[in-house]
Amino acid sequence: MDKKVTVIGAGNVGATTAQRLAEKELCDVVLIDIVEGFPQGKALDLTEAAPIEKHDAHLTGSNRYEASAGSDIIIITAGIPRKPGMSRDDLISTNAGIVKNVIQQVSKLSPKSILIIVSNPLDAMCHVAYEASGFPKNRVLGMAGVLDSARFRAFIAMELNVSVENTHAFVLGGHGDTMVPLPRYSTVAGIPITELLSKERIDALIDRTRKGGAEIVGLIKTGSAFYAPASAAVEMTESILKDKKKILPCAAYLEGEYGINDLFIGVPVKLGKNGIEEIIQISLTDDEKEALQKSADAVAELKALLNLN
Ligand code: NAI
Ligand code: 2OP
Repeated sequence: MDKKVTVIGAGNVGATTAQRLAEKELCDVVLIDIVEGFPQGKALDLTEAAPIEKHDAHLTGSNRYEASAGSDIIIITAGIPRKPGMSRDDLISTNAGIVKNVIQQVSKLSPKSILIIVSNPLDAMCHVAYEASGFPKNRVLGMAGVLDSARFRAFIAMELNVSVENTHAFVLGGHGDTMVPLPRYSTVAGIPITELLSKERIDALIDRTRKGGAEIVGLIKTGSAFYAPASAAVEMTESILKDKKKILPCAAYLEGEYGINDLFIGVPVKLGKNGIEEIIQISLTDDEKEALQKSADAVAELKALLNLN
């Protein structure tokens, strides 16, 4: 393939992301992890599936960051996941150290790459990556809104017994309990769900979306979600590699947009070959603005714990 994507962290999200990237023949994939043999084994296993899955993407695994050199995109999934009883925010100090160390190394080896952050707490880890890489803001973004919106879409489709393909949803804000699902901008075949469902049912779906990550942790018990997170990271990667210019909710660095300054938070962005090519500003009601500001305040509190600028 003529594109190269490195996935840091060969755990559940990382390996599933690598699998989907290869099976879609989007790029060659390098998997990197600190555990000896782990990324090599996963890459070899995926390579041995290639004849059956019918793809020619090359997968390699390594414990050395040098293998990532010259990547077009680097997806950061390294870190510890949530266990039952833990919030995403409980991961902050461990994952900040891991993400900082990883970014310092990979950004030098792929100075033109685009960084997609997945490690939690997501919005705070984007700040760590932005600071540690020194990359321009269009080349540092976080995956959360695509996942949270996909969860909302899945719940809408279940509720109305319609195809998921007919659904569209926007979930903005930080990737935490204060995330902001927007029913007015969430549709089935173009019809806002506010015209299809009662307020009580919409509130129930919003509540399930906000708790979507915890629902999976509670069921799996040994870790957190990874199939849907990997799909979300791959949708973002595909839009960039193919310069599709999809509008997707991603964590982006805001400098005044939505009245928010110097903060990574989920907003609709246009994703193309340059990474974030535009931050889309949709009109919000006073209640929606207030909810987004509350979410921004929660992210700012976490950011303050990191002692960054
Ligand atoms: P996992 O435990 O299965 O995999 C994490 C991998 O990172 C492990 O294999 C570990 O050895 C590796 N790792 C740790 N330090 C490393 C380093 N310095 N360099 C390279 N690799 C290193 O965890 P999982 O489920 O894959 O989740 C990964 C992260 O993604 C977690 O922080 C989790 O909370 C987050 N996540 C975020 C989502 C989002 O919506 N933004 C959704 C799902 C997970
Ligand atoms: C999720 O939402 C844990 O952030 C992860 O599933």
